Amino acid sequence: MSTEFKTPEQDRASPADAPTIRRIVRMGDPVLLRVAEPIIDPTTPEIRGLAEAMAATMHAAPGVGLAAPQIGLSSRIIVFIVPEHRATGHPGDRAEALNVLINPEITPLDDGVVLGWEGCLSIPGLKGEVPRHARIGYRGLDLDGRLVEREATGFHARVVQHEVDHLNGILYPSRMTDLTKLGYNAEIDAALLAEQEPT
Ligand code: NI
Repeated sequence: MSTEFKTPEQDRASPADAPTIRRIVRMGDPVLLRVAEPIIDPTTPEIRGLAEAMAATMHAAPGVGLAAPQIGLSSRIIVFIVPEHRATGHPGDRAEALNVLINPEITPLDDGVVLGWEGCLSIPGLKGEVPRHARIGYRGLDLDGRLVEREATGFHARVVQHEVDHLNGILYPSRMTDLTKLGYNAEIDAALLAEQEPT
């Protein structure tokens, strides 16, 4: 315990209400296998605080998406960003902006399925090649209770499907159709690089 006192300036520099970084739950914890509960009122200070803690935890990890069950809360809320280099150029991607989505729902827009590499903060160190719908529509509520409705392709579509799966108790290995494409980051990256090298 510290006996130091802070000046008012120091106190403002490190506000007591800064969002706390939470411990990320890892695969094997039953909370990750549970269907999360809908959020009744997305506009409460508690939900806003939860979203801020989730965003801080995601950024610190670092990661690009996080669902509430990953910090041990069985509630239907996700946060994610579409990094600039993974945006498609569609304005709906809102590159680098923080997205908070409450009670999200996904509708595939056609039969197209694409394979892509995914990692998960609850399965650290590993990645796998996962089939996902190529084009989706999704809807949910923001922290002001307003309806958010978007269409997404590419990485944007993938991250939303990955995070909404968390709300339904599904981890990406369960979506994989070829488990030979599951491995440690360094080994998979080396193998992919070797494949690309001209002989
Ligand atoms: Ni994940």
